[in-house]
Amino acid sequence: MITTCRLTKPGGALKNSMCGISGVVSHNEISSRLIDSIKSLEYRGYDSCGVAILNGKSKTIVRKDIGSVDEVRESVQLDDLQGFTGIAHTRWATHGGVTRENAHPHSSCDGKFSITHNGIISNYTTLRAKLKKKGHTFLSATDTEVIVHLIEDYFKETGSVEEALLLAVKELEGAYAVALVTPHEPDKIYCARMESPLIIGLGDDANYIGSDFNAFIAYTKNAIVMEDNEYAIVTHNGYSLKNITTRKEISRPIQRILWDHKMAQKGGYPHYMLKEIHEQPSVVHSALDIDQQQIDDLASEIDRKKQVVLTGVGTTFYVTQLGQYYFSEYAGFTPNLVSSDEFKFLSKVDKDTIVLATSQSGETYDTLSALKYAKQNGATTAAIVNVMGSSMARLVDHLVLQGSGPEICVISTKAALSQMILLARLALSVGLLRENITKRQYSTYQSQLRKLPDIIDKVVNEKSGFIHNVAKEQSHIRHWLFLGRGRYYPVARESALKMKEVAYVHAEGMPSGFLKHGTIALIDDDLNSVIFMPTEQEKELYELALSSAEEIKARDGYVLGITFESKKARELPFTDCISLPQAPPLIAPFVELIAAQLLSYYTATTLKRNIDKPRALAKSVTVA
Ligand code: F6R
Repeated sequence: MITTCRLTKPGGALKNSMCGISGVVSHNEISSRLIDSIKSLEYRGYDSCGVAILNGKSKTIVRKDIGSVDEVRESVQLDDLQGFTGIAHTRWATHGGVTRENAHPHSSCDGKFSITHNGIISNYTTLRAKLKKKGHTFLSATDTEVIVHLIEDYFKETGSVEEALLLAVKELEGAYAVALVTPHEPDKIYCARMESPLIIGLGDDANYIGSDFNAFIAYTKNAIVMEDNEYAIVTHNGYSLKNITTRKEISRPIQRILWDHKMAQKGGYPHYMLKEIHEQPSVVHSALDIDQQQIDDLASEIDRKKQVVLTGVGTTFYVTQLGQYYFSEYAGFTPNLVSSDEFKFLSKVDKDTIVLATSQSGETYDTLSALKYAKQNGATTAAIVNVMGSSMARLVDHLVLQGSGPEICVISTKAALSQMILLARLALSVGLLRENITKRQYSTYQSQLRKLPDIIDKVVNEKSGFIHNVAKEQSHIRHWLFLGRGRYYPVARESALKMKEVAYVHAEGMPSGFLKHGTIALIDDDLNSVIFMPTEQEKELYELALSSAEEIKARDGYVLGITFESKKARELPFTDCISLPQAPPLIAPFVELIAAQLLSYYTATTLKRNIDKPRALAKSVTVA
């Protein structure tokens, strides 16, 4: 049976690692596919990478090094490899140095077993000590290496690869997605999953494994999503999926991936970030096209609960913060807001609570943990997620799949905007249910949302040149303040995060009310401010924003106003002013966000930053 899925996009003492793993097994040559597969997962980590490949002979060839896939391709001649079965890895280390020794794959002492791993083995120090006593030699400082030595040990005992893998993973505490190849069974990839994503791809002349669908979307759209506590044996013409504890065979429907791998290509844009910014009009359409019944069902659930908690982390925290303002305005109550990394330390949840998370990847450790914690405490869980088949998508009671298409740039833009739209839709539905807004207001708001794609289109097509010039002129500035009030405050915070992560420029997002409570002392030639101006309709907010701009100007500070076209625009007290097409308050924050995304993007290109893969970041943050 085949089901369809709308998926979107879609790593000293190394305790934790995040990364992408992939594998290909065929009766034909696989090396170029294997290298492509790991290149497609590079946004998951790009400190180092490597491959282990078997060509039917008695040896596994392992090549790895530090650097991006393209760099490692050259440094260790990956393209010279040939084989029929192989696994690969791209890594993002969270602790310790990035070294060739710590890059995956890792091999056993006899070189007969090679593995790649994504996750954290929390008891690795104990296991390592035990294995060392038994005479195993460790070449790296990773937690991963214990797994392969355990397998080697158990193989000596049992003479069975399957048995050795199972006995080894039973000793592991923590999270893992592991892929194993061995010349003992050269036409198989063994893999196992516990709390780290792993997916099998079923192709014509080959089968695949990957941390996500991007590993093999160029070759097949048929996938089997593995669950926790499962292992699989994958061959060129089949696979067998089993439960680790019971060893019982599992039959699971094949999921059909609906998007095309071309969606995950740059399509003529210099960077994915720019492409994804430009895709936002169509992403808004997709968010608005999501079935109203789904939104209404979740709205009813929210309406029934005594406590509503919104959660996310990084960008998605700011997304949910904006959602909080929308609920407050349109639904008539203020949900709690807790950053998912702080969730366990702050939130008291029970059966009368609904916890609603947003996540692009659906795999973020902090948010996943918050949802699990909520579930354990009896709360209802819900999530707005971009990646079909992801851990959060499978965990929650209520899922809204945002359908934003693959977001490849490590910096989130279009996925975040889509989540904001969906939270706005949800707030409007709850508002209607609670009679905080009338039917008439509700339909006016719906038609305002429908105007957003055209307005964004105008911003990206007509304002980019001006924003690029501002970014170039101000690219020497090392400190930025992004200021906003009301619903513009989360936009200011999200915009500051964009500037930090893509341009490596220090930026703080804060409520403009805070300016006079201390931060104003920083105003000087080295610091620029951005004010997110509300619409003129929001009179009180508008006046307050203007006075913040005046306060900075009075101290000779540079102020960039992000505002809406009006007759007054010329008189506004800004050093520079990005004037945007008019928009009603409901959608105004979204429009200003696009301008700020472009400001960060062009600052980063001027500073020649690594736009799609900024230093030290990874797309899917699957560790604590
Ligand atoms: C910023 C960014 C991160 C993510 C955060 C949550 O551009 O991408 O701050 O928003 O790591 O990730 P997801 O949305 O995958 O849960």
